[in-house]
Amino acid sequence: MSYPTLLSPFQVADVTLKNRIVMPPMVIWKSGEDAEVRDIHRKHYASSAGPGLMIVEATAVSPDGKLHKNQLGIFEDRHIQGLSRLAGTIRKTGALPGIQINHAGGRSTSEWNWGLPPLAPSTDGSIKPDSPECRTLTIDDIKRIQTDFVAAARRAVTAGFEYIELHYAHGYLGSQFLSPLTNTRTDEYGGSLENRQRFLIETYRACRDAVGDSTLLSCRLGIIDKDEDGLSLEEGIDTACRLEAEGAPILHISRAHGVPDSVRPEGSSFDPLLHLAGKARPKLKIPVIGIGGILTPAEAERAVNKGVTDLAAVGRGILADPQWALKVIKDAEDSIHICRRCNPCFWYKTPEKCPSRIAAGNTI
Ligand code: FNR
Repeated sequence: MSYPTLLSPFQVADVTLKNRIVMPPMVIWKSGEDAEVRDIHRKHYASSAGPGLMIVEATAVSPDGKLHKNQLGIFEDRHIQGLSRLAGTIRKTGALPGIQINHAGGRSTSEWNWGLPPLAPSTDGSIKPDSPECRTLTIDDIKRIQTDFVAAARRAVTAGFEYIELHYAHGYLGSQFLSPLTNTRTDEYGGSLENRQRFLIETYRACRDAVGDSTLLSCRLGIIDKDEDGLSLEEGIDTACRLEAEGAPILHISRAHGVPDSVRPEGSSFDPLLHLAGKARPKLKIPVIGIGGILTPAEAERAVNKGVTDLAAVGRGILADPQWALKVIKDAEDSIHICRRCNPCFWYKTPEKCPSRIAAGNTI
């Protein structure tokens, strides 16, 4: 076995993952306007077997928070059946079934939301909502979206997901509250760091109370903005520590509105995004999932051995060759079709143009 640390089991709270490889959430836009799971989703996740933890793509908690018209949803009970079959498909691969639940806030549009206007913490920040029809969240809206998160988390548990991740990264609603670039509110949800954290902490706490201790309730937390007037690393790490204090057993560390190159120490070959996990990890007692630019198993092994991260998430690498993890496990890494960073997969716009994916014979 060439990668003993990467392939060793890893304990998170009471759960043992079979290895330290994670398939991060990556949308594939294969639902219909009903937001339900299709056969193609099950095929896609089954064909990516091998990671110890597989996290289903961003799934909408509210009908007014969608990312795309063909995004998966978890905002009605009718979604449970399909999601339950998907969780079962993932469990059969030997992975812990996980799911990311999301509200897109000001990055949604009414076109995707059956005409419902998108909502954001504020609409006059230096990063504007994606659509001019976006309106500012009232306190009632905030409470309703928090209730939607709780209902979605309950549905995820009912469907059999054992890891649930609240999407607090990448400029979506959680990031929008946390960042001064998108939150200019003057009430208890804006202004000071504690106020900007309030939506995230309250929502986490409410979901924690709803799902109980047997589910790993995590967050994908964006801990820095690219713009120096935005969320600072210090503020992001403070937020991670607060989520840990609320009982988070693990955190998935990522960026908020972009990531500055300066977080990469001189001489390091790791992606700046991956270094964010390395910055948060020493401040936390719980393990972290790190992500960013991991192409080869050797890089993943190095990241876990060097203490940059506890678990290594591989995004585009697994899209390029869905058997990435299986080939590592089978000691067949030479046959991995390595991601070339050419990015037709990005945002799953033209995945069929991915040269490695074509070479790997993937047809989805
Ligand atoms: C993503 N990413 C992403 N992130 C997230 O939190 N939820 C999501 O649903 C998606 N969807 C998504 C789709 C596609 C096609 C890509 C390529 C990316 C971001 C992803 O999880 C990951 O953070 C980045 O791709 C960086 O990791 P890699 O690709 O460098 O390993």
